[in-house]
Amino acid sequence: MHRIIKEKLPRHIAIIMDGNGRWAKKNLLKRVMGHEKGADSVRTVVKTCRELGIQYLTLFAFSVENWQRPKSEVRALSSLLEEYLRLELQEMKETGIKLITIGDIGRLPKTVRDALSDAMGKTSESRGMVLNLALSYGGRDEIVDAVKRILRDSKSTDIDENTITKDFFSGYLHTANIPDPDLLIRTSGEYRLSNFLLWQLAYAELYFTDVLWPDFSRDDLIKAIVDYQRRERRFGLISE
Ligand code: FPP
Repeated sequence: MHRIIKEKLPRHIAIIMDGNGRWAKKNLLKRVMGHEKGADSVRTVVKTCRELGIQYLTLFAFSVENWQRPKSEVRALSSLLEEYLRLELQEMKETGIKLITIGDIGRLPKTVRDALSDAMGKTSESRGMVLNLALSYGGRDEIVDAVKRILRDSKSTDIDENTITKDFFSGYLHTANIPDPDLLIRTSGEYRLSNFLLWQLAYAELYFTDVLWPDFSRDDLIKAIVDYQRRERRFGLISE
């Protein structure tokens, strides 16, 4: 079994959960079944991260591009999310998980928004791990949104060219209060960022695996973390 070095855990893991559709096809099932099985992988990964002591976990659950999928699939994903929130709320509270979201939440159906604000309200005091769900999220949209808000604020406060530093700008992103991911995992053998956390992933270690998301297990997660721990992060500097 692989060994994880407790002192070198990534503080923040971000995951592009890909391959639900292909998993369903491979198993001669409807796409929705792939998402259902994918939701089980979400449960496993959240639990494992919490147990290991990961501080932040961001999951790409629904992209702005995903709105273009058939209505029935979008509805199925919404129901799965609602169900997840309802069923996991108690455990989130008990294990100290704080739920937050990034993305254009306003576009989600009212029932999902209500379930989200209920779960966020009831876990807001948790201090164990932050579970950040990216919903109706797009990295470029987030950056454009930040620029617009800076412009708006510049009309009422004195923001000028010199005010705009990288830290200042980060403060306008949806991830304002959380550190950048240290490790990005993408499943299903695709080697793309797909508009996910474009600004925040600048220095992240990237880990790609052929495993389809519904098959992604506790051991697969541990393997990714061990791989991360073997790498040397230099942030553009030299080793000495
Ligand atoms: C990618 O598979 C996955 C998604 C678009 C949605 C992710 C959703 C879940 C894992 C389930 C619900 C989420 C939570 C948080 C409970 P794909 O459909 O793009 O797969 P494909 O590329 O093989 O078609």
